[in-house]
Amino acid sequence: MPQLYRSYAVALISIAALLSSVWYFTTSNPSSMWTTGEINILRSLWINSLPPLPPDTSNSVADHPLAAQFGYQLYFDPRLSANGKISCATCHQAELFFSDGLKVAVGAMKGTRNSMSLIGAAYSPWQFWDGRKDSLWSQALSPLENSLEHAGSRMQYAHLISQDQHYYDIYEKLFGSLPNFSDRIRFPPAAGPVSKKAWNDAWQSMSVKDQETVTKVFVNIGKSINAYERLLLPGPSRFDVYANAIINNDITAMSTLNRNEVTGLKLFIGKAQCINCHNGPLFTNNEFHNTGILSSPGQLPSMGRAAGVKKVRNDTLNCLGTFSDTSNGDCAELRFTRIGDELIGAHKVPSLRNVAKTNPYMHAGQLEDLAAVIDHYNRAPVAMVGHNEIKPLNLNAFEMQQLEAFLQTLTGPPSIDSKWLKRPEG
Ligand code: HEC
Ligand code: HEC
Repeated sequence: MPQLYRSYAVALISIAALLSSVWYFTTSNPSSMWTTGEINILRSLWINSLPPLPPDTSNSVADHPLAAQFGYQLYFDPRLSANGKISCATCHQAELFFSDGLKVAVGAMKGTRNSMSLIGAAYSPWQFWDGRKDSLWSQALSPLENSLEHAGSRMQYAHLISQDQHYYDIYEKLFGSLPNFSDRIRFPPAAGPVSKKAWNDAWQSMSVKDQETVTKVFVNIGKSINAYERLLLPGPSRFDVYANAIINNDITAMSTLNRNEVTGLKLFIGKAQCINCHNGPLFTNNEFHNTGILSSPGQLPSMGRAAGVKKVRNDTLNCLGTFSDTSNGDCAELRFTRIGDELIGAHKVPSLRNVAKTNPYMHAGQLEDLAAVIDHYNRAPVAMVGHNEIKPLNLNAFEMQQLEAFLQTLTGPPSIDSKWLKRPEG
């Protein structure tokens, strides 16, 4: 009997060992969950795959530390607005990953578009939901003169730089001597090519040469803000710790994501096809797609990139314009931009880094939360203009939650010294 007992025991132990090794390989060693092809995809999404920022040849001070310092001060300065209350930081708040938590932006007045996060924006060849700007410096000049946003004028800003001793000094160090704007007949207090009639009239009454002198200072404000924005880079999230663990076979760190999050990641790169557009280490292909987002009640459907591409080509402040520092032969992005019907209703694919913190979502803040976003993709409604590129996904309720759980793992503090994140003293 003891003999039989013993063989029973041996059999039980070996079954247990077998089971536990099966268990081990399916749960404790999640790297075996991933094929080599999938691991390569995880590597492509991993933050360590983010290349250094490409140089910006249209802006000669793009990587100048003093320009970044100047831009940082301008970014937070509400004196750069008509009512003295609005700065870039009003709508792009550091605590919210440089977004504002609102459906649509509110500056001098309520706007029609959702404020975008600025983390990683310097990697993008196109700015705005419709890509109507091709550089960060040229982009920065739009809100400054937009009547819904800062609502000021370039002449006002040029006066500010010349009257504030600190700005004056820093400007001259960077760009050489600042013109003398003290003649208020030649250089009225407020003037620019803006919608406000009085200021526009004042602008039209100036000589072309004086207009150019003022625009040059305005452009240099943009170029300095651009230098600051180049510092706003993403930092590692829990997803990156997990990707690192899978790539380097670090078994302990693989528990960084729980099972639902890992399954959500699998869906993201597989069945849900999010990876088709949200790819690379910033989770964006930097292109424009129509995803059938319905327009907000009372708003016309946005034509998106179809309109944006025309604007950027005709923009005197683009890469090919006289205020760009690019030498001939550059500006490839702009020169080879595609146009075509597929751009109707197409919008910029936003980065999904920190997406859990930047709601509401989409170009006019149409979707309140991530559950609504996933539900939208799952249903893939017919587009109001153009053609929705998404097909219904047939995800069940549980899969939708797992996908959302994964999106929640993409949050990580930006990789930037915290001194750049708060309003400058004084
Ligand atoms: C009143 C709110 C508001 C203010 C003030 C504001 N922005 Fe924005 N910002 C927005 C909105 C809304 C969008 C998207 C608009 C669109 O696409 O039409 C945007 C888009 C951007 C983008 C494009 C990001 C991308 O990924 O395409 C950048 C960069 C940006 N803003 C920087 C700035 C800077 C720099 C300033 C200050 C000079 C500024 N913004 C002031 C609301 C604001
Ligand atoms: C065909 C390209 C494409 C695919 C596939 C795609 N997206 Fe998007 N995504 C976009 C575009 C374009 C936008 C912006 C649309 C707009 O505002 O009109 C967007 C916006 C988003 C936003 C809002 C981000 C923000 O800051 O407002 C989230 C979240 C998102 N997508 C998640 C997903 C998920 C999850 C999947 C997979 C189920 C997915 N996307 C598949 C192109 C795509």
